[in-house]
Amino acid sequence: MKKILTLALTFCAFIVAMACGSNDPEVDGMTGATEQTGGEGEGSAKGKMLVIYFSRADENWQVGYVERGNTAIMVDYIKELADVDVFEIVPVVAYPAVYDECTAYVTEEINENRRPAYKDDITNLNDYETIFVGGPIWWGRPPMLFRTFFEAHPELGGKTIIPFGTHGGSGVGSYATLIKEYYPNATVLESLGISGSSIRNASSKTTVENWLKKLSVDKQSTAIRNVRTRAADNGVSYTLNGLRSNGQRGIQIKNGNKYINR
Ligand SMILES: Cc1cc2nc3c(=O)[nH]c(=O)nc-3n(C[C@H](O)[C@H](O)[C@H](O)COP(=O)(O)O)c2cc1C
Repeated sequence: MKKILTLALTFCAFIVAMACGSNDPEVDGMTGATEQTGGEGEGSAKGKMLVIYFSRADENWQVGYVERGNTAIMVDYIKELADVDVFEIVPVVAYPAVYDECTAYVTEEINENRRPAYKDDITNLNDYETIFVGGPIWWGRPPMLFRTFFEAHPELGGKTIIPFGTHGGSGVGSYATLIKEYYPNATVLESLGISGSSIRNASSKTTVENWLKKLSVDKQSTAIRNVRTRAADNGVSYTLNGLRSNGQRGIQIKNGNKYINR
C-alpha cells in the first residue's frame, strides 16, 4: 500500500511539473544536490569486485545529447580508481534517443510493470564477493531493467552490494531499497549518487574517489585483498597490480600474513 502511494505521489508531482511546462525530473521533492551518499550501512568492500550498470546515452536531462551516458562516466571513474570487472546491462530494445520520447516510453514501461530483456547475460557472478550496482534514476526509481536482471540472478543474494548512480535531483536511495527488496540477506554498503549534469566535472571524480576510499576500495587495498596467503607462497612478493615480483617492494607473504614493503 505504501509503495502504491509513493508511486502515485511521484506521478502526481511529475504531472504538476509537466503542467508547469517543465520536464524537470526532480519529481520526488528532493532538490538538486550534486552528490549524495547513504545506504544501509558502514563497512568495507571485500574480495573480488564487479560493477554492474546500465546507462543511456543520447538526449538527457540538463546535458543535451551525450555520446556516453552519465552513469557510464561514473563507471569510468570507478574503473580508473579500482581493480574491478564491469558488466553493462544492455537492453535488447534501445530506449528512445529523444528525451521526451524516452520519458513517455518509460512511463508506459512502469505502468505495465514490464521486464525489458537485456543482451548477453553474465554467468560468473559467483566469482565476485562485492558488487557495485548502479544506473540512472527513472521516475524516482531504478529502471525496470534492474528488476529483469535481479529476477534472473538470485545468486546476488549473499553478496556485498554497493549501490550507485546518477540522477537529476532525486538521489539514488531507491537503488538500496530495490536491492533490499530482492535480496534481504545481502550486505548493502554506503551508496553514492551524483547529479548527471555535474558528473563530467573533475570534482565528481574526487567525490567518487573519496567514497571508494571510505569503502576501502582503491588499487592498493584491492591488490592486497587479491593476494593469497597460502603456505606455498611464503616469502613471495607481489606488485600492487597483483603480479609476482622478485623485488623488495610490494606485498609480501610471511607466515600466512600479508605485509607491504614500501
Ligand atoms: C525516463 C527518465 C526519467 C527520469 N526520471 C528522473 C527522476 O525521477 N528523478 C531524477 O532525479 N532524475 C530523473 N531523470 C534524470 C536521470 O536520472 C539523469 O539524467 C541520469 O544522470 C541519467 O543517467 P544515464 O545517462 O546514465 O542514463 C530521468 C531521466 C529519464 C531519461
